[in-house]
Amino acid sequence: MTYDFRIEAVDTATMYRDLASALEGLVVSETDPIANMANASALIFETLPDVNWVGFYRNIDGELVLGPFQGRPACIRIPFGTGVCGTAAETRQVQRVEDVHAFPGHIACDSASNSEVVVPLIREGELLGVLDIDSPKKARFTAEDEAGCIRLAEILSRVL
Ligand code: SME
Repeated sequence: MTYDFRIEAVDTATMYRDLASALEGLVVSETDPIANMANASALIFETLPDVNWVGFYRNIDGELVLGPFQGRPACIRIPFGTGVCGTAAETRQVQRVEDVHAFPGHIACDSASNSEVVVPLIREGELLGVLDIDSPKKARFTAEDEAGCIRLAEILSRVL
């Protein structure tokens, strides 16, 4: 079986729609959360232009712990409230940051990262973790990207 999920969409909305349906197809019949996070990070990393890190931090007893990802090795544990991921976990609000260097407490794992979007993963009121996507481009993520990533997080929250 081959997985050829190359997505070549003409516009951002179409790209996120294709990405969401590819993600759904990839995770829908698998119950193992590690396998689903691993494939999801690979699919998103392959599909989104101008990203250098895509992955997960899991909520393990009130601390964010690194999960499956694509990109350079990253910091392993992040307290709630610290940096962009920790803020997303604590507030349960999407963090879309145009310039991570201006974000208080930002944790620089890869010095190439300049902008970032972090989406909390919530199921039935429980914070499972966060999806973190980094870009070397400043202000890479638009409101349209944010909406697309929220859709991806909804799909993922059901299978993690
Ligand atoms: N920049 C993040 C840390 C995680 S890495 O980017 C992979 C933050 O401040 O939350």
